[in-house]
Amino acid sequence: MELICKLLVYVTLLFPISILSLQECNFPAVFNVGDSGSDTGALLSMFGEPAAPPPNGETFFHSSAGRVCDGRLLIDFIAEGVGVPYLSAFLDSMGTNFTHGANFATVGSTIRRQNTTIFQSGYSPISLDIQYAQFSNFLKRSQIIRRKGGVFKNLFPEEFKFSSALYTFDIGHNDLTAGYQLNMSPGYQYSIQ
Ligand SMILES: *[C@@H]1O[C@H](CO)[C@@H](O)[C@H](O)[C@H]1NC(C)=O
Ligand SMILES: *[C@@H]1O[C@H](CO)[C@@H](O)[C@H](O)[C@H]1NC(C)=O
Repeated sequence: MELICKLLVYVTLLFPISILSLQECNFPAVFNVGDSGSDTGALLSMFGEPAAPPPNGETFFHSSAGRVCDGRLLIDFIAEGVGVPYLSAFLDSMGTNFTHGANFATVGSTIRRQNTTIFQSGYSPISLDIQYAQFSNFLKRSQIIRRKGGVFKNLFPEEFKFSSALYTFDIGHNDLTAGYQLNMSPGYQYSIQ
């Protein structure tokens, strides 16, 4: 059953119209790593609007929603499809709710760490290994914080959700442009062209 659900997700990526069929998959949470294709507010939280200028998802969310897009992103449609709330960005400290997952993506992220700063080149310091470190930290600390009870119990996922969640990866194209713009060995450039 789980395999069928995962296959459906891949099919969905190719044919978004079939997202409705995911309702039956029943994933209790979604965890995402990625770049601008799926950032739901992290870069805006870290660096403010100059780094992530409007429209920020305004046409759909009716206020700035931290997306580098004038509406919803694919990750938003996936959340709708599996029946969980839109994912909060892990790095957003305001109004976040992680009961049904967390989003570690940031605009400009790469798989490999880049030897440059966002101010020099526009690439995010939150590369895939950092996103994984944040997820590991989240996995451990969310359970400790949940045990405090009260409001915290309703802001973080129960432990079982981690093993039955949907994990999505949407990262890699910035490595190609970074390799082209920054490293620039002629052979590397040629292989990308
Ligand atoms: C950054 O520099 C380190 C140390 O020189 C190197 O190992 C790594 O491959 C470099 N990263 C990129 C993306 O070029
Ligand atoms: C977080 O979201 C879940 C799902 O929508 C909801 O049940 C829960 O009450 C929310 N937590 C808080 C503290 O609002």
